[in-house]
Amino acid sequence: MIIVKDKVFQLDTEHTTYLLRVDETNHVRTEYFGKKIKAAENYDFSKEKWSFPYGSSVVFDESHPELSLDNISLEYSTVGKGDFREPSILLKTQSGFTADFQYRDFEIKQGIETLHGLPTPHSGGETLVLHLEDSTSKVGLDLSYVVFSDSDVIIRNTTMINKSLDDIRINKLMSFQIDLLDQKFELVNLFGGWAAEAHQSAKALGPGIYINDSKTGASSNRHNPFFMLKAKDSGLNQGNVYAFNLIYSGNHYEMVEVNSYGKIRLQAGINPFCFEWRLKPQERFVSPWGVLSFSDRGTNGVAQHMHHFVNHHVVRGDWALKDRPILLNNWEATYFDFSENKLHDLLKRAKDFGIELFVLDDGWFGKRTDDTKGLGDWETNPKKLPHGLNRLAEFVNKAGLKFGLWFEPEMVNEDSELFRAHPEWAIKTPERMPSLGRHQLVLDLGLEEVQKYIIDALSKILDSAHIEYVKWDMNRHMSDFYSSRFDQGEFFHRYILGLYSVLETLTKKYPHILWESCSSGGNRNDLGILSYFQQNWASDDTDAFERLTIQSGTALAYPLSTIGAHVSASPSHQLLRRTPIDTRFNVASFGCLGYELDLKKLSPVDEEAVKEQIKFYKEHRHLMQYGSFYQLRTLEKDGYVSWMVLSEDRKEGLISYFQGLGKANPTIDILQGQDFIDDVLYHVYARHQETNIKTFGGLLNMALPVNLNEDGRIIDLISKHKTIEELLKKSFDENYDVYGDAINNGAIKLSPQWAGTGFNEYVRVLADFGSRLYYFKSK
Ligand code: GLA
Repeated sequence: MIIVKDKVFQLDTEHTTYLLRVDETNHVRTEYFGKKIKAAENYDFSKEKWSFPYGSSVVFDESHPELSLDNISLEYSTVGKGDFREPSILLKTQSGFTADFQYRDFEIKQGIETLHGLPTPHSGGETLVLHLEDSTSKVGLDLSYVVFSDSDVIIRNTTMINKSLDDIRINKLMSFQIDLLDQKFELVNLFGGWAAEAHQSAKALGPGIYINDSKTGASSNRHNPFFMLKAKDSGLNQGNVYAFNLIYSGNHYEMVEVNSYGKIRLQAGINPFCFEWRLKPQERFVSPWGVLSFSDRGTNGVAQHMHHFVNHHVVRGDWALKDRPILLNNWEATYFDFSENKLHDLLKRAKDFGIELFVLDDGWFGKRTDDTKGLGDWETNPKKLPHGLNRLAEFVNKAGLKFGLWFEPEMVNEDSELFRAHPEWAIKTPERMPSLGRHQLVLDLGLEEVQKYIIDALSKILDSAHIEYVKWDMNRHMSDFYSSRFDQGEFFHRYILGLYSVLETLTKKYPHILWESCSSGGNRNDLGILSYFQQNWASDDTDAFERLTIQSGTALAYPLSTIGAHVSASPSHQLLRRTPIDTRFNVASFGCLGYELDLKKLSPVDEEAVKEQIKFYKEHRHLMQYGSFYQLRTLEKDGYVSWMVLSEDRKEGLISYFQGLGKANPTIDILQGQDFIDDVLYHVYARHQETNIKTFGGLLNMALPVNLNEDGRIIDLISKHKTIEELLKKSFDENYDVYGDAINNGAIKLSPQWAGTGFNEYVRVLADFGSRLYYFKSK
């Protein structure tokens, strides 16, 4: 709801309020952003009051001698009028760099207008547009705000309109800026690299400027555009937390400045790095949408807002809000080394296990036998698939599974037919030898002919077989960037506009397809991409323990229904770490579950485990993908990780317990949830898991009638066929009847962990990297 009183605008979501004021000098101020407050008759209370400016200030004008822009909380800022903090707008007009945008009038519209060329969330409530102008340079500025009340999210962007007769240059136009009073916040952002995405960094903010950005050409695995400001006393479930994101997939920039007057300025938008946009008379430039949310229920509160927003207003297509299928991807099972027969073998297994979607990854096209060649040639390789893609898809469909395919459409290898025909489509600087990444070059998607090629080449394949899933990869950062057609400062943004145009066309043309984005894992996991693709491969790292960190970070910003998570072989190919098959599942089940290993190589014991996993996931899939997600315990603070999902009616939930390293004399573990209904009785039970006999090493001999070498062939053989529970003919799955208040207040105490002094069926053997899932259902 948007309420207007004099020149104060109150934007209300279900639980939050955002207040703006047009002040006496016609600048728009951030007045308040936080927990919901009642609409008032008079907003004098919230106005920042000044009698005199601080010493050595520049005063805006002599008729308001108390006002200096340097110390007012502003919704946007420029240079040259006395605000010496980071400007959110930097432009060059006939009057130089100085600019001063002043309020003219406003509009309130129902719904949200779709931005031309940029992804726009759908099903929005009301939109407020404030029209501003710099009267000297004749440049207009619109500040837009859309309220998504149900998600407790507000989105903002800015539009610049050149009403002058001359070209102007935009060097920086942030999607949003807000100025808050400094409350000793912590800045939390997601950083990383390949196979280690979305690690969290938290730093206490002191005076200075903090920048979180990407210069790789994509939103990047270096620094995701999502960030949070946490009040000092906030935690996972309590305290004030702000979260911000950007609906953009290219170079982005987020800035936090703490000044010496107790103010904190936040900005986010397209990265000014190598950016300069020429705006001709009458043209407009629209910045991507920025996303803002606040919760007084800690990081879980604000993450839940973001999840709701993404599920209900960002993700679209036939798969929006739909349960995702369990897939098998052949990549880690075969890499490039597959044949039709091998794929058939994998498929037969997949069917027996209850897998629902079979994905053929890299290597099916052109002369692609390794990663040095073939990218760009989107035609089936007859040597690998002599009967063609359609026959393979039919085979998959006959087995009752959907068929999915990998592409990397934005790239080209120099050793490809495409490159030989169109070397000019690859990004490179004239006269310089281009630097390669994974032996490949990037196609310039800023060029319409490249966009057309990609649309046509993919359409041809997608029309040639029954393909119901696409993995769209993008495996390198950009270098040697140069536009053969546009001003150089426009290169990066034009690439992204070109990409969006291709994605818009293809996803509209094939709405039945489930699209999964990938960029060497999570190198382009952002809300721009999720406006077209329903899920995102979070990381090439499928090691379960590393995934705890990656998925904990990713899930701050993105819902579980968008996070691709697979069970792969042990030791993991990325870290060579060994983790139990059930931990691999327990971690991957908090997302869109897949398997990425050769199911034929599983031992009978693991086969049984995987079949049980798939059965369990199918029963609880909706809860795992769309339930409210809570992070209850973290590795850093608690030494173990506990995640939870809760159904909308709060009558059903799942809590996980992921151990890091085992401990001597382990304490009694408590199973504690959050937000279960206090006076409802729940039945809770541990998902059935069994223990590999090799876990016990030489200790096994204490229970065996004969002494066997724990590294020998006999133990090896037994371990493939029997678990400890089977050998003992005893197993125990903890289960209790318990009221919601007992769950919420930590009254459930779990069976003891292995302590090195004895074993029976009640001992929980977690060892290093062990885990359990507990399912709760109201009785
Ligand atoms: C990237 C992806 C992987 C796989 C390979 C194929 O690394 O992230 O999942 O698809 O490409 O080359």
